[in-house]
Amino acid sequence: MLSESFIQELKYRNDIESVVESYVRLKRGGKTLAGLCPFHSEKSPSFHVYPDTQSFYCFGCGAGGDVIAFVRRIENLEYMEALRFLAQRVGLAMPEEVENDGSARLKTRILEINREAARIFHQNLSSPAGREGLNYLRGRGLSDRTIRRFGLGYSLAGWDNLYKALSARGFTEDELIAASVVSRRKQGDGCFDMFRGRVMFPILDLRGNVVGFGGRQLGEGGPKYLNSPDTPVFKKSRNLFALNFAKSSKEKGMILAEGYMDVIALHQAGFDNAVATLGTALTPEQCRLISQYGDSVSLSYDSDEPGQKATRRAVSLLSEIGMKIKVINIPDAKDPDEYIKKFGAQRFRLLLEGSANSTEFAISAIRRKYDLETDDGKMNCLKELAALLADIPNEIERDVYLSRIAADFGASREALSAQVQSIRKRAERARRRKEDGKLTVFAVNMPDGRPGGINELQRRNNMKYAVAEDRLLAALVVNPDYFKWVSKRLQPADFVTDRNRAIAQVLYGRLEQNLPVDLTSISGYLDPEECSQLSRGLAELSGRRVTREEAEDYVSVLLQHRKDKTQEEIAQMTDEEYARYLSGITAGKAGKGLPWNGDAS
Ligand code: UTP
Ligand code: MN
Repeated sequence: MLSESFIQELKYRNDIESVVESYVRLKRGGKTLAGLCPFHSEKSPSFHVYPDTQSFYCFGCGAGGDVIAFVRRIENLEYMEALRFLAQRVGLAMPEEVENDGSARLKTRILEINREAARIFHQNLSSPAGREGLNYLRGRGLSDRTIRRFGLGYSLAGWDNLYKALSARGFTEDELIAASVVSRRKQGDGCFDMFRGRVMFPILDLRGNVVGFGGRQLGEGGPKYLNSPDTPVFKKSRNLFALNFAKSSKEKGMILAEGYMDVIALHQAGFDNAVATLGTALTPEQCRLISQYGDSVSLSYDSDEPGQKATRRAVSLLSEIGMKIKVINIPDAKDPDEYIKKFGAQRFRLLLEGSANSTEFAISAIRRKYDLETDDGKMNCLKELAALLADIPNEIERDVYLSRIAADFGASREALSAQVQSIRKRAERARRRKEDGKLTVFAVNMPDGRPGGINELQRRNNMKYAVAEDRLLAALVVNPDYFKWVSKRLQPADFVTDRNRAIAQVLYGRLEQNLPVDLTSISGYLDPEECSQLSRGLAELSGRRVTREEAEDYVSVLLQHRKDKTQEEIAQMTDEEYARYLSGITAGKAGKGLPWNGDAS
């Protein structure tokens, strides 16, 4: 473990507000800031940052902690890596111990390998053996400037050019395999290159690291593109091609395209807000990533059937998190790349500005499915359109489309409207049922939303005590001066839920030695779940002090637990025993004035 003073210094310089702000758009409200949670999909902000306690907490998914916990989650880093990340951010030198951390070192090595490989691929373009690659890229209309900007390259034909070059630079076989730039030969010794005779598209993360590659074949036969698999530094589902450029674009919103070539053509034509997925379907994580940089997306997928299918998927995922969506239908070309080549950037901008919104796209997609010459086809089509209309949240917008569709079909506006209303009512009832269901499901989820969670189950079964513990622990952080009398009456062992007991142990241990217990000082001693849990308690206090009287109440509630029976014991009682037990509880004054049983006293 690194020295505490170093970590203090690190956190002091990395103010949580400024760190979070580079990922989440925050709005200030009084002493706290709020925004859309980057860790789960949501439409209204339940993610809060508390500059006072230098912590964050999401009331939607339960993620919480200090600035280190935030960076770990959002950048998917190990603890030590997060420290290094924050140190780098403020230009602080890391103490030496860090180099002992094996997995962090492997990641660093992989990044070095990737960078080196990207450089070699790029250099190949100017060698005779790589001439073919350069000609291909130029033949696709890319300028030398674009080729340089994207760091495009060529992997030489032959089996082990890269393997030899990188081995000669001191990278071990294991490291090269971990980076997935080579594979081990099935027979015999050594490795062979993963990419051979392909034009190479390096994939950069937001920090400018090369995290992976896409490689396109020049001719026919074999897969058109090969993509790096996920590695310790690369998660396809969390990255987008060219986001490193698009994130600072001055254009409004983002353009989501299907292919590497489309994105590069778009950037070259001046649309530097274009991104693409990395050879996989769009994921919810990528949608959240996009939503961090604006509230609108223009979908510019290929005009073929798979492209339209992907569009539908993207519309549904992106609208789920409240993004404004435009769908760009590309006439007379198979994809944006070809369109720009045929008609120019100016015409593409017209498409972009005049593009139909997602509702219009969905309507025309539904209409195409039916044979509107027959009564049957018309009926079924109207039915499906009614369901679509019912899904439009904005009443005015719904009305506009409703009128238009009724007119198009020569149907009665009133009849269609009634049908839509009845679907909406049914959906509303279903939604309520589902919400109710969700609440209980959420209660047994981990704070970070993972299912299962024996700890959450335990909390649910002991809600009264869990809440008292939460408050008491938060009170100790905010008012460490209470520790003297609290510790006389209550020991960590008296805490009912396991997770809070673990937190109590850390707090007690430090308070006994008069060490600080603010979140910043102790988060290194807590695991991520404990850290989230404590942040939740602090968030719920939202900065207010806990009076001594209130804190005493929490202590009493916890002491009461010893007397209370466990669930199983209660279940085995006779009616008479149970009645006696109940009257015993209501006679006691524990919990007076507490929010969870305010009127029981
Ligand atoms: P496309 O076939 O449309 O490729 O696939 P493209 O980028 O437009 O390239 P050109 O213009 O045909 O040369 C779209 C994306 O799907 C993934 C790649 O990410 C590609 O950019 N893909 C496609 C693969 O991962 N593997 C494949 O074999 C094909
Ligand atoms: Mn394409």
